[in-house]
Amino acid sequence: MAEARNPYRTAPGSTPPELAGRGEALGAAHYALEMARYGEPPNPIVFLGLRGMGKTALLRQIVRDADARAGLSIVVEADRSLRFIDVARRRIDEALERSETIPAKLRASLKRLAGALPRVSYELPHDAGAIAIEGRDDPDAEPSDSIENVLLDLNDRLHEHGRFLTIALDEIQESARLDLLRIVRVVHRTAGTTRPIFFVGAGLPNAADVLKAARTYTERWAYHRLELLSRFDLASAVDAPARDVGVHWTEPALDELYARSHGYPVFVQAYASAAWRHRRGAVIALGDMTAVGIGVQRTLDESLYDRPFAALSKIEAAYVLALHRLGAGPHRSDEIAHELGLESSAAIGSTRARLMKKDVLFAPTRGLAEFRIPLTSSYIERHRAQLEKRANLGSGRGRR
Ligand SMILES: Nc1ncnc2c1ncn2[C@@H]1O[C@H](COP(=O)(O)OP(=O)(O)OP(=O)(O)O)[C@@H](O)[C@H]1O
Ligand SMILES: [Mg+2]
Repeated sequence: MAEARNPYRTAPGSTPPELAGRGEALGAAHYALEMARYGEPPNPIVFLGLRGMGKTALLRQIVRDADARAGLSIVVEADRSLRFIDVARRRIDEALERSETIPAKLRASLKRLAGALPRVSYELPHDAGAIAIEGRDDPDAEPSDSIENVLLDLNDRLHEHGRFLTIALDEIQESARLDLLRIVRVVHRTAGTTRPIFFVGAGLPNAADVLKAARTYTERWAYHRLELLSRFDLASAVDAPARDVGVHWTEPALDELYARSHGYPVFVQAYASAAWRHRRGAVIALGDMTAVGIGVQRTLDESLYDRPFAALSKIEAAYVLALHRLGAGPHRSDEIAHELGLESSAAIGSTRARLMKKDVLFAPTRGLAEFRIPLTSSYIERHRAQLEKRANLGSGRGRR
């Protein structure tokens, strides 16, 4: 038998061989796509989830589905260091180049419309960077509504041809406030017409607050929280793609994969990929999983947790252990203070801030704290002795 290609995907944002456990989210997106196509305003959709839960993979799948349904998609990853208008221009150009379903005549007219976007910076040749253009397109006087008008014009022209515009915004929480406001406003404006824009976004759980701060009506958008995969979903994530190429997983191997990965998509792909490489023949057995287990775990610890957890101070280590003892999910500052034996949360405000800066903690919404990376608790369990040692250093002089 010719050696089959490894079907698993470990790169961030990569499309997994099987988008397992996301049926409900995909169903909602497909329903919204159909509405947009027939001129009924769909509810904008936002995927929320911690790092590595599969937000980008899902977003990209929906963009492909939208394009296949005769849409045109502008896909943007929010980034404060870039000007949205520049990124949007590039993404519109790319979308027009990419789309195979748009007839040449319509494409040319869309290109003309997109050409109306003012240039606020100019890319120098040979990757020498970008310079701002003075005068009418002075970046400080960036025309506030030109991007909105161009998006509306593009969308109108698409609807005239039975198509629609999709705006896909990843890493919503990283958006500059004004850019986000522009996108939200333009989507909202079309919702009152028979020419809706379909919006799909993704971000960390605090993206919901970021959207709400831009416009409160975004509270009524449809939010889907992406969680760990169930044991059932995990089996379809890894076994179905293997079977397609004549390989299968034994049940004990799947149990071991579930026990090690807890259904966290990043872990699932990493273990499955290593077990695939370790197998001999057409079966992935328990022995393959146990053989690769420790090595994969070490690699994942190094890439995800070791850096944020390096060099925690005494009080930081104590804080982390207290949050861990409180159990899964976000917790309020006063609960954490209480767990630390403190009267009020005021004393740990700066610790919390430092742990956020170190990427250990994250505030899904104001006043709450949770571990930034999924399965941090398992990491803490594995490193509990070291963390306790750090938290107790000099404990004779009090808890802090
Ligand atoms: N439903 C799924 N089933 C199995 N694997 C998945 C699924 N979704 C994503 N993956 C895999 O999980 C990994 C992480 O996915 P992705 O980069 O989309 O997550 P993310 O939530 O966007 O992460 P980040 O917050 O870091 O941007 C990738 O290797 C991807 O192929
Ligand atoms: Mg992502």
